[in-house]
Amino acid sequence: MVIFGASGDLTYRKLIPALYALYNQKLLPDKFHVLGVSRTTIPDGEFREKMTEGIRKFSENIHLNDLQIEEFKSHLSYFQMDMTLEEEYSRLKSALDETNPNEGADSNYLFYLSTPPSLFSVIAGNLSKVGFSNESDGFKRLIIEKPFGYDLESSLTLNSQLHDAFLENQIYRIDHYLGKETVQNLLVMRFSNGIFEPLWNRNYVDHVEITSAESIGVEGRGGYYDGSGAIRDMLQNHLLQVVGLTAMEPPSSMDADAIRNETMKVLQSLKPIKHEDVASQVIRGQYVSSHIRGELVPGYREEKGVNPESRTETFIAMKFFIDNWRWGGVPFYIRTGKRLPTRVTEVVVHFKPTPQKLFQVDEACKSCNQLIIRIQPDEGVLLKFGLKQPGAGFNVKTVNMDFHYSELSDTHLPSAYERLLYDVMVGDSTLYARADAVEAAWKFVSPILEVWKNDPDQKIYGYPAGTWGPENADDLINDGETGWRYPCKNLADDGNYCEL
Ligand SMILES: NC(=O)c1ccc[n+]([C@@H]2O[C@H](COP(=O)([O-])OP(=O)(O)OC[C@H]3O[C@@H](n4cnc5c(N)ncnc54)[C@H](OP(=O)(O)O)[C@@H]3O)[C@@H](O)[C@H]2O)c1
Repeated sequence: MVIFGASGDLTYRKLIPALYALYNQKLLPDKFHVLGVSRTTIPDGEFREKMTEGIRKFSENIHLNDLQIEEFKSHLSYFQMDMTLEEEYSRLKSALDETNPNEGADSNYLFYLSTPPSLFSVIAGNLSKVGFSNESDGFKRLIIEKPFGYDLESSLTLNSQLHDAFLENQIYRIDHYLGKETVQNLLVMRFSNGIFEPLWNRNYVDHVEITSAESIGVEGRGGYYDGSGAIRDMLQNHLLQVVGLTAMEPPSSMDADAIRNETMKVLQSLKPIKHEDVASQVIRGQYVSSHIRGELVPGYREEKGVNPESRTETFIAMKFFIDNWRWGGVPFYIRTGKRLPTRVTEVVVHFKPTPQKLFQVDEACKSCNQLIIRIQPDEGVLLKFGLKQPGAGFNVKTVNMDFHYSELSDTHLPSAYERLLYDVMVGDSTLYARADAVEAAWKFVSPILEVWKNDPDQKIYGYPAGTWGPENADDLINDGETGWRYPCKNLADDGNYCEL
C-alpha cells in the first residue's frame, strides 16, 4: 500500500491507526508493506515513530499490544518525492520493487491519495504512465479522498482524468460516512425486517429529516473551509449518500453495483431546486460570536484564515423532494452546520398521524411515530410511539423503544476507515462512491451554489455559536406540524442534555 500524503494529518490520525487495527485482528495479509510518500524528508525511523504515536493516540476500540505495534512498525517505510514531477515516479517504482516483500506472489497494490485534491489526477496519470494501472500481475486500486471536485464541471473533469488512467472499477472514492456501522445498518434494518419496508413510502411517511451537527468550529482549518462551506463539505457527499441509502429501492442483491445502482437512482431523482425557490427552500447561515458556557467563542469571520467579509455558509438547512413513485410529495429536510449545540448525526423518519384522532394529545402531532436512526455518536435506533398515561382518562404519552450499539459490548465496532480499508483490500466497492453518483449529487447542488454566487440578494443569516442555526431554518420545516427534532437544547439554555 502506498500512501501519498503520508506526512499529513489524515495518515497520522486515521489511516495508520485503522491499518494497525486490521493488523491487530489479523485481517491484513501475511505479506504486506506500507510505503508512506510525501514531500518532506523524513528518515524511516522517524516516520515509524510518528506513526506509532498516531496508533497510540487515535486507536479506537482496540486493545493495544506493544509487541504487535513493534511488529507492525517494521512493515512501514517512507519515501520522499515531489508528486507533481513525472520523473519521480520511475524512482518510486524502483523503490517499490525493492520494498515489495512478495517475491513470487501477485503484485497487488493500493494507492491511497491523501493529498490536496489538485494532485489526484496528476498522481493517477503518472502512476498509469509507469504501469501501475495494469492489473496483469495483480490488482491495482486507487483510493481518493473527498472532495471529488468543486462543482459539477470540475467533478466531470476529475472523473474523466481519472478514467484516462484507471478503470472505474479500480477507483475507490472514499466517503467515511459510508464506513460507519449505523449507516450500513440503514440497509440491514430496511431490508432484513418485514415490518419497516411496507411503511417506507409516501403513504405512511410524512417527512424525513436528516441532521448532521458539529459543535466545533473550523478548528484552524479556516483557509480550507472558507473555500468550501457546508454544502461542499458535508451535504454534497456524506449527507446525500445517506439520503440515497434511506430512500433507495431494495437492491436485487448485496452486490456492490446492485446497491450503488439503487442509491444512484435516488440521486438522479432529486427534484432540482429552481432559482426562484432557492431563498425559500435553502437557508444558509454563518455563526457569529457568542458565549458558550460562559466562554466567548469567536464568530466565523474572526477565525484564522477566513476572509473577514466571507459569505461562506457554516450552516445549511434545505427542503427538497425525490421525484419518484415511492417518495412523490414527501418533503425531505437536511440540516448541517458547525458550532451547533452538540455533535450528532441522525435520520428521523416521521410517520403520518392516525387517520382519526381518538385520544387527547397535548402537543401538536405528539402521537406521530418517529423512527430515529442515530449515526453518531451513541449509535442506535429509537422508535417513538404513543402509550396511555397511567390513571384516569385516555391521555397519550410518547414513549421510547431504544437500542444502543454500545450495549453489544462483546462486539468490536470498527472505525469507518478500518472497515473501508478492509473492503478495498478484498475488492468490495459497495461502500465507495461511484462516478455517476458523485456527478448526480453535484448536478443537484451546483445550481444552488450558482445562485448564491451570482445573485447578491440571496441572504446569509447569522446565528449565535452554540445554537441550532438561524431561526429561518425553523420556518422551513414548520409548515409541517412538527418542526425539527432537537436532540439537545441550545447551549444558551439550561444545559446540553441530549436524548436519543
Ligand atoms: N484530515 C481529515 O480529517 C480529512 C477528512 C476528510 C478528507 N480529507 C482529505 O484527505 C486529504 C488529505 O488531508 P490531510 O488533512 O491529511 O492534508 P494535509 O495534512 O494537508 O496533508 C497533505 C499531504 O500532501 C502532501 N503533499 C502536498 N503537495 C505535495 C507534493 N507536491 N508532493 C508531495 N507531497 C505533497 C503533503 O506533504 P508535505 O507536508 O510533506 O509537503 C502532506 O503529506 C485531502 O484531500 C483532504 O481534503 C481529510
